[in-house]
Amino acid sequence: MKGVTLPTETVFVLEMSPIKFGLGASDEIGYDARRLGLKRVLIVTDRHLVEVGLPDRIRALLDEEGIKADVYDGVEIEPTDRSMEEAAEYARQREFDGLIGVGGGSALDTCKAVNLLTTYPAPLLDYINKPVGRGVAIPGPLKPMIAVPTTAGTGSETTAVAVTHVIDQNVKAGVSHRLLRPALGLVDPLNTLTAPPPVTAAAGVDILTHAIESYTTRPYNARPKHHPPDRPAYIGANPASDVWCEKAIEYVGRYLRRAVLNGLDLEARVHLALAANYAGIGFGNAGVHIPHAVAYPIAGLVRDYVPDGYRTTHALVPHGVSVIVTAPAAFRFTYSTSPERHLRTAELLGVPTRDLSERERREALPGALMALMRDVGIPNGLGAIGYGERDVPALIEGTLKQPRLLAGAPRPVGAPELDAILRDSLRYW
Ligand SMILES: [Fe+2]
Repeated sequence: MKGVTLPTETVFVLEMSPIKFGLGASDEIGYDARRLGLKRVLIVTDRHLVEVGLPDRIRALLDEEGIKADVYDGVEIEPTDRSMEEAAEYARQREFDGLIGVGGGSALDTCKAVNLLTTYPAPLLDYINKPVGRGVAIPGPLKPMIAVPTTAGTGSETTAVAVTHVIDQNVKAGVSHRLLRPALGLVDPLNTLTAPPPVTAAAGVDILTHAIESYTTRPYNARPKHHPPDRPAYIGANPASDVWCEKAIEYVGRYLRRAVLNGLDLEARVHLALAANYAGIGFGNAGVHIPHAVAYPIAGLVRDYVPDGYRTTHALVPHGVSVIVTAPAAFRFTYSTSPERHLRTAELLGVPTRDLSERERREALPGALMALMRDVGIPNGLGAIGYGERDVPALIEGTLKQPRLLAGAPRPVGAPELDAILRDSLRYW
């Protein structure tokens, strides 16, 4: 087809959940649940939060408005297709007209899956994106869901995706559809005060990778033109997502170290909660690319890494760690596609980039990321979470199962490029 120019996209979309933000925002949940017409809800959360008391407090606030609530507290950290289906099985025994997810990304994503699997019963794998699942579209509207995040990380309160670990294939994968978006995100920074430093750090670098990947992903107007019904949830970098991403990067750069050092630093917690939400709006429309694609097998193939600060005794790689460990190498690889965006990101992270040599410019963003990783206690590359050179082929194979994410990379990525990025990520300092 030499000489034929295919039309490129001229339209972008900005979709997000309505958000109520601020200190004490979650105290208004009774009012908001009633406003959404709810009479009986299912709260989806984890046991740790039940011990802290937040779900009970929410139940009491709902009760004041005459709304009854059941609590499911079996959410697993880094949930699996099996744990999500167990949650849905529990939910099927109950009656409810809406759902409230309370917790980090694991709880919010499990809540989205429960909403889907109880409204349109089918194996979760049917809805999971191809090629891991069958990629069946969600047939129609879901029940109203209120998302109450307790970490500043995933931005799941505003995104159209739920991520799970598919046990049989030993890989992470997602369900993504605009109908998964919560009806309301109640973002109350006070709910994040109890997150311990390692959880704050991992969630914080997840925010950062969401924002930088969205900022550097292939722009919407460099992608093929779509008919409206076929336009994907992730459309590429665009003028609107850029605004949200830049602010999120700036806030993480300025406040993450402070929140890790002192969890009661309210100014830092407020700005990280904003950053998580802003980055969620950014990547929820633009989409992520290499670090998130590689993160799926990094989390899925874990052998014996048990993170500090997480209430788990079994091996797992926190999502934020799994994305940031390849980020310096990935953005070194993508630098040439948009030097100005990579330099702007380094600037937003507090690194001056004027008067640098070409080699220093190329290293500005990877250097800023490595400095932040070191300061907040993130493991030093893939080697520090149990991977070595011998694991690179399996990690490549797992990454190639994420074609939807790899397609967002600003330059073509196949096995040879992934091989170079993964080897570059084994150890940074
Ligand atoms: Fe993420």
